[in-house]
Amino acid sequence: MKYKIDDIIQHLKMFGFFFQGSEIYGGLSNTWDYGPLGVELKRLIKDLWWTTFVTRNEYNVGLDSSILLNPKVWEASGHVNNFSDPLTDCNGCKSRYRADQLIEEQKPDFDYSKLSNEQLKEYIDKEKIICPSCKKANFGEIREFDLLFQTQIGVIRDKKSEVYLRPETAQGIFINFKNIQRSMRLKVPFGVCQIGKSFRNEITPGNFIFRTREFEQMEIEFFYKPNDKTDWFQIWKLEIINFLENLGINLENISYLEHDEKKLSHYSKKTLDIEYNFPFGIGELWGLTSRTDFDLKRHQEYSKKSLEYLDPKTNKKYLPYVIEPSVGVDRLIFALLCDAYSVQKLKNNEERTLLKLKPIVAPYQFAILPLSKQLNANAMELWKKLLPKFRCTFDTSGNIGKRYRRQDAIGTPFCITFDFDSLNDKKVTIRDRDSMNQERISIVSLKETLKKLVNN
Ligand code: GAP
Repeated sequence: MKYKIDDIIQHLKMFGFFFQGSEIYGGLSNTWDYGPLGVELKRLIKDLWWTTFVTRNEYNVGLDSSILLNPKVWEASGHVNNFSDPLTDCNGCKSRYRADQLIEEQKPDFDYSKLSNEQLKEYIDKEKIICPSCKKANFGEIREFDLLFQTQIGVIRDKKSEVYLRPETAQGIFINFKNIQRSMRLKVPFGVCQIGKSFRNEITPGNFIFRTREFEQMEIEFFYKPNDKTDWFQIWKLEIINFLENLGINLENISYLEHDEKKLSHYSKKTLDIEYNFPFGIGELWGLTSRTDFDLKRHQEYSKKSLEYLDPKTNKKYLPYVIEPSVGVDRLIFALLCDAYSVQKLKNNEERTLLKLKPIVAPYQFAILPLSKQLNANAMELWKKLLPKFRCTFDTSGNIGKRYRRQDAIGTPFCITFDFDSLNDKKVTIRDRDSMNQERISIVSLKETLKKLVNN
């Protein structure tokens, strides 16, 4: 079942996953802060990605490069010349749009890729493309809007001090290709993984954390020999699907879109968007791109430093080709939360809202709930024993029913209730979030039982 985006956001705000950015100052549009539970979820997802693709992957290593890079990097990568969108304003209601997106939505079969901005404008006027907001067909001139965020280094503000905030983490990997390969004595094929913030001055940010100007990416640049017959593209596609499934994404909400040649980015030979069916519609979740040797070749040309790899078997040098699986952490979290959010009608006609998060990503795996104030000290003792091993919270506020609802709402898979009988029989009750079934477990074997539950 699909829920409204506003209901999901409202829930996430109420329970400390997200807050509007700069809220007490009236906000800053399209910025979001991750609250205590949101940051925990984000950290867990990043850790899972890192463990899967770096720690436990036979080919890959990690990197943490700078956000600020020498501006020549962005000239070489093509971002200075190519990283812009055609912007147009509605003369009626002043809403701002990407001209290419307006045409794509209203004339999906029309190929606009070879048109200049003047020709795009002529087409928009001739075909009476309308403003989705006020429904009038009256647009202003089209201007190229640079997506790169600029800032200055040092005290003197001139052309020489201008730098960019990185729009992707990928270039930090390409410019370190030789450092990584040599220092780690790596043989092609190998991959380099990086998690970090990226910045784009998007024209149309929105849909919660789907498109923001500051976001976090998890990218892999996988280097392989150009004539290697292995289908690395397909291998990486399957790795992505496995990861999504393991995370708890419902694969029925996943679709695939192979880009038309004419819509490929300047660096791409082939791109597959792995899409998710968000509440506002289908959108790109994870990009899988064949970048060939475009980036290494350009950096070699612009830096005048050889980036060639010396094949130890043939003693010949070459520039490796690249497959790039790239995902936004924020989009992944949004997709996961859309799948996890659920409102259920109970037998007594009450409603309960829950986040069906798997124990591997739930901010808290367990909640310890003493049934009465008199039991707080004993229950707390148990909590302190479990804390070093599990993500565990202690909740004493409100009646037991309310506490169960709160834990359901934040995605805690299991509640452990300490009652008066626990003092004598040395057992506690474990309640399963999804089935609401309860089971009595002895405290002596509790750690073992909980270990099994979190690994399921
Ligand atoms: N290095 C390749 C690259 O950056 P991309 O398709 O522009 O390719 C990769 O971005 C992923 O980064 C996207 O699939 C998406 O998950 C995420 N992403 C891109 N722009 C974003 C934005 N403005 N807000 C949030 N996530 C974004």
